[in-house]
Parts: sequence; structure tokens; C-alpha cells
Amino acid sequence: MNNTAKIDYTEMTNNQKQTWSKGDFNQIARQNVGMAEALCKAVDPHPGQKVLDVACGSGTAALVAARRYCEVTGIDYVPELLDRAEKRAKASGLEAYFVNADAQNLPFPDDHFDVVLSVYGVQFAPDQEKAASEMLRVCRPGGKMGLAGPVPEGWSGDFLAVHAKYTPPPPGVHSPARWGTDKGLNELLGHEVISIKSEKKTTLQYYLSTNHAVKVFSSWFGPTLRALEKIEKEQYEDLLNDLKKVFNRYNRSADGAAIVENTYLQSIVCI
Ligand SMILES: C[S@@+](CC[C@H](N)C(=O)[O-])C[C@H]1O[C@@H](n2cnc3c(N)ncnc32)[C@H](O)[C@@H]1O
Repeated sequence: MNNTAKIDYTEMTNNQKQTWSKGDFNQIARQNVGMAEALCKAVDPHPGQKVLDVACGSGTAALVAARRYCEVTGIDYVPELLDRAEKRAKASGLEAYFVNADAQNLPFPDDHFDVVLSVYGVQFAPDQEKAASEMLRVCRPGGKMGLAGPVPEGWSGDFLAVHAKYTPPPPGVHSPARWGTDKGLNELLGHEVISIKSEKKTTLQYYLSTNHAVKVFSSWFGPTLRALEKIEKEQYEDLLNDLKKVFNRYNRSADGAAIVENTYLQSIVCI
């Protein structure tokens, strides 16, 4: 029996759902807008097309597609983030529908969408094969999938590694950064698609300082809050210092502000 055969994905999904419900990802989501804009530009959903944003959080990519007059649905399993997505859409005069659902079990018929997007979202589902097959199932033949997600190196890889150091994932579970490698993408999607075109891109995150960046994540980011809950109080400073080192490593500003370079993988998948 291999390691993955023993993983209880239901329990892991429930734990992760609790993790993402902590804090308020909407406070971090501003850093993802550039990636969502770039992804939509590359995938190019046309007005009137049906677009799904998987693990949409507070609607970052969904709202970009809605601005194109696409018929947009976003799914996430944190109801508070979906409420926020609805409010953001309403405040901007945009139409989009938000549904409480698990990326590993999408409540839509086969071939329902023209375009399926995910920005730092589906990559976190523990049963990666199931999540990949669900995205493929709901996207029609001739449709496109667009992914933006972490790579094993750079800010994302180092940031994930700090969290894994303090709250190690169960053995046998793949890193979200598997989606950020050609090998991983081929394993997950390659057997069913016409083409996968991936490109490493860089986005910038903006904070008042690297201390501010750490404060933002330790106040609002579910996985950091969960790690702080799990570890002993004596380890708090170590975790926060490790995060600060990661922000310092990729900070491109010399004036005290933090402008942090995040390298990620953008993939366009033709179905
Ligand atoms: C890093 S946030 C990104 C949110 C959004 N895509 C954005 O770019 O602003 C990850 C999101 O994935 C959601 N998520 C993780 N695993 C999920 C799953 N299995 N099903 C649905 N949502 C999931 C979390 O609730 C969270 O909102």
C-alpha cells in the first residue's frame, strides 16, 4: 500500500476548512488581484461565457471576469468569504453568483462552464487528483482552464515551508506547489487535455514594512493563525521571525516599505 492510500481526505478537508475560516482572507486577497487580472487576460473569457472561479475566497478572480460581462460563479467552502464576495460584487455593481462548495466535489453538471479559473485556490485541496478531475469534468470540451499558484521555490515555496515546519502536513499529502511544476500538472491534468502552457510570472505584494507584512499574515491569514494556535507559546517568536526572514529575502524595496516579489506559475489548459 502506498502512503496516499492511508490519507483520510474527509478529515483533512474539514480541518483545512476550519483553518481557512480563521482570520479573514479578504485582508490578504488584495495581493492576488494582479495575478487574477493577468490570468483573465491570458485565458481571455469572452463576454457572456460561463466562468467558474474555484476556491474564490472573497471573489478576486470572479470579479475580474464579471467586469467582462461573463456569467460568473465562484465557489468556496468558507461562508464568510462568500458573503464578502457578494458584498464586493454588489458594491461594484457587478453580477456574480457565489456558492458554498468543496473544490473536490463541484455541484455542477458535466461540461457546464466555458472557463474554469483558480488563483491560489484549488492547489490547497488535499485530494489533488479529485480536485483536478472535478475542474476538468465541469469544463466543456473546447473550454479553457486557467491556474495561478505557488511554485516550490521563491516567496511562495519558502512561505509554505515555514508553515510546514511548524504544522507539518500528514505524511503522503502532496504540497500545493505540486500544481506549480510541469511534472505535477502533467500528472494531474495531462492525460485528459489538449495542451498545458505554463509560464513563471512575478507579482509584487505591497506592505508598509516587513514587520507590517508579518502582522498582516499573523492577524488575518488562516494557516498562520492555525500554526500559532498549534505551537507552544515559546515558539511564537521563532515562527514570526521565520516569516519575517522570508519577507526580507524577497523584499525589493530599499526605503523601509516592503515590496515583495512572488514568483508563481500561470498555466493555461486547453480542454
Ligand atoms: C489563498 S486563498 C485564495 C482565495 C482567492 N482565490 C483569491 O485569490 O483571493 C485560498 C482559498 O481556497 C479556499 N479553499 C481551500 N481549499 C478548498 C476546497 N477544498 N474547497 C473550496 N475552497 C477551498 C479557502 O477557503 C480560501 O478562500
